[in-house]
Amino acid sequence: MFVQIKNLKYKYPNVSEATIKDFSLDIEQGEVVCILGESGSGKSTILRLIAGLEVATAGSIAINDLIIVDDSHYTPPEKRGVGMVFQDYALFPHMTVAKNIKYGLRKMSRKQKEERLEEMLTLINMVEYKDRYPYELSGGQQQRVALARALAPAPSLLIFDEPFSNLDASLQVKIRDELRSILKKMNITSIFVTHDQDDAQAIADRIVFIEKGIVKRIGPPEEILGCASLVMWANS
Ligand SMILES: Nc1ncnc2c1ncn2[C@@H]1O[C@H](COP(=O)(O)OP(=O)(O)OP(=O)(O)O)[C@@H](O)[C@H]1O
Ligand SMILES: [Mg+2]
Repeated sequence: MFVQIKNLKYKYPNVSEATIKDFSLDIEQGEVVCILGESGSGKSTILRLIAGLEVATAGSIAINDLIIVDDSHYTPPEKRGVGMVFQDYALFPHMTVAKNIKYGLRKMSRKQKEERLEEMLTLINMVEYKDRYPYELSGGQQQRVALARALAPAPSLLIFDEPFSNLDASLQVKIRDELRSILKKMNITSIFVTHDQDDAQAIADRIVFIEKGIVKRIGPPEEILGCASLVMWANS
């Protein structure tokens, strides 16, 4: 297994109850997994634990057979090889779109960098925006640049927190389909967090449905999305 998460627990210091109670998940290399759950169920917290922005109270995480978190290990975020796209898509404000996207490409030759930049700009439909600064972009455009910046260095694990939340419906469908085919082509293992069942169905090989920090169901979209508790939740 490429990612192994075992019995992860997390309690925010100022809250009495644990937010993540007992989260376990194995992910194969190249698999696209989607964590689905309602607002406040702990989705972003799980991603923060995987990225290393929070330190688990108990449990373990291994990536590519390397333990990054357990009782005696804590690997800092920058050494985990995990690319992230967060809900607030923080771009570097003093860098243009092109510079933001090329930020993680230091090891590539100049030619490779330019090729990857063009590929990413085409993916996000923003070729003509490459010399703009973040403050000159709309929220959805900034979100697309954040996606491109995370994808460009082809990290071995990519995690996405609601990456389509600021896109209009037609752009959302286009980008998520293209993104899925790029992830598959580059064989990048990825974890998406969403509360949108259509996103989950379109992008995921497997869906993990969580409620209040506990895994309720895991399986392929066709198995999970028909289940009774999800239908009730979607209609509530
Ligand atoms: N820094 C914090 N301190 C205390 N509690 C927090 C903190 N951050 C989040 N929480 C709480 O932890 C729970 C899970 O939050 P989390 O952000 O993981 O939910 P989520 O599933 O990502 O929700 P959303 O879909 O709204 O983004 C919530 O009840 C939230 O209020
Ligand atoms: Mg969240």
